[in-house]
Amino acid sequence: MHICAMSSNSSAVPAYAVLCSGGGSNLQALLDRSASGELPGRCAWVVANNRDAFALERARAAGVPAHHVSTRTEGSDDGVGRKLVELIDQHNVRLLVLAGYMRVVPQAVLHRLPGRIVNIHPALLPAFGGKGMYGHHVHEAVLARGAQWTGVTIHLVTESYDEGPILRQRVVAVRPSDTPQSLGERVLRVEHDTLWREVRALLAQEA
Ligand code: GRF
Repeated sequence: MHICAMSSNSSAVPAYAVLCSGGGSNLQALLDRSASGELPGRCAWVVANNRDAFALERARAAGVPAHHVSTRTEGSDDGVGRKLVELIDQHNVRLLVLAGYMRVVPQAVLHRLPGRIVNIHPALLPAFGGKGMYGHHVHEAVLARGAQWTGVTIHLVTESYDEGPILRQRVVAVRPSDTPQSLGERVLRVEHDTLWREVRALLAQEA
């Protein structure tokens, strides 16, 4: 009886899920805010396309189901799409968060959660986005161009890479002394304080 009460309680909290490819520090920021109660949503599962992604370890340490899902495990891009849709449906996921996910989101997933998939990008889109603009490449390009401002963008994921409607941005000043690494670290800290706020806002729309 007690177990039933607990599970119905947890299913009353809206569920989000996270796709990652690497370290998962943004995932960690979400898990921490969910654990503290500041983010009233539970992370239903984490998927990485890379078996060795540290993000999967972070999920397991937080007691969140962690899955390696890739063309290698599912056989094809369509297989990846089917598996993700299955996970979305099984856990009643209402919001999918891309936090450092380095793959294109399959069409089947875009159709399953229209307007409910977000990505975080470490610059002020539409500048410094698109093909090749990931990780340190973004911060190198910002410095090479002499931009004085960069930042963080959270946007809806659509079929066009980095081009979906912008939901939230935060500005970060570029310092004359910045290296790609120092700038990237400062932007990442702002990412950690931004993503959970947007996830909270989007999940509140479900309530
Ligand atoms: C972040 O900079 C994010 O904006 C970008 O990929 C990076 C992921 O970092 N999409 P982490 O895995 O969350 O540490």
